[in-house]
Amino acid sequence: MAPPASDPTRPASDPVSDGRVSALESPGLQIPALQISDLHVSVEDHEILRGVSLQVEPGALHALMGPNGSGKSTLANTLLANPAYVVTKGRILLEGEDITTLPTDERARRGLFLGFQHPEEIPGVSVLNFLRQAIAKRKGIDDFSVLEVRLSLIEWTKRLGMDSRFQERYLNEGFSGGEKKRNEVLQMAMMEPDVAVLDETDSGLDIDALRQVAAGIAEVRNARPHMGILAITHYQRLLEHLVPDVVHVLVDGRIVATGGPEISREVEARGFDAFRPREASPREASRREASS
Ligand SMILES: Nc1ncnc2c1ncn2[C@@H]1O[C@H](COP(=O)(O)OP(=O)(O)OP(=O)(O)O)[C@@H](O)[C@H]1O
Ligand SMILES: [Mg+2]
Repeated sequence: MAPPASDPTRPASDPVSDGRVSALESPGLQIPALQISDLHVSVEDHEILRGVSLQVEPGALHALMGPNGSGKSTLANTLLANPAYVVTKGRILLEGEDITTLPTDERARRGLFLGFQHPEEIPGVSVLNFLRQAIAKRKGIDDFSVLEVRLSLIEWTKRLGMDSRFQERYLNEGFSGGEKKRNEVLQMAMMEPDVAVLDETDSGLDIDALRQVAAGIAEVRNARPHMGILAITHYQRLLEHLVPDVVHVLVDGRIVATGGPEISREVEARGFDAFRPREASPREASRREASS
């Protein structure tokens, strides 16, 4: 298990000698792994995200839930700087540094990883070669040793319960739905990110595959306890295996609820409609106006 976002055995703030509080020493004031502030994003001049703010502490697992079309993948695409998604307002900070205008490869180099909802097939590029190039970029080493990648792949495919011959296959070509998702977890493990955004890594999985993917994510968290995760999902299913520290509900491009795992159970029981902000009735609106 990864450590909780804050350690209850330590005081909330550690004053240092000059009377100020050190952000590094105080878990209460630690720098968030990922901080999104008032993010507005448009696609083809249509505003999809309308002021999203959230922050993921190091080691924390946040779940982002929401109905179809609410903007979850838009957020994931924006985090990885897909040029079709235009930030019109707001900021994205990775480990305290503003990455809002940085290109995709620079964000990846700084430790942001995105697991795609629909991973692309790359014919002719093996899992091994793809990872070798990606890791070389992440580490800033031009000719990263293929042997090192191969050894690490053998270890991780074993830890994730995958066939080690997998690494010779072309990326996502002919992969089953479950294999594609497992491969995203394998990439996350190999890239050693500080923040991982997983877009529906649970979709299309049968019960056993879901359990294995959840166990794989838990395994990667064990290996990188400071890694923050934002897991996008529709369903409570994944969260039964992978208990989140915080759950957010995104509806129509806005976060309408944030809380503990009870929120995901509420979504399961009552659906997303229960979270849609109610339009004030004319009578409520005039009462509010009169009292203000
Ligand atoms: N590249 C794009 N071009 C045009 N419209 C887009 C694009 N990406 C997203 N949208 C629109 O933005 C809205 C939000 O889409 P998004 O994919 O973010 O939803 P989602 O919450 O991930 O949904 P799902 O649960 O179905 O995956 C939708 O109306 C979608 O059509
Ligand atoms: Mg989506």
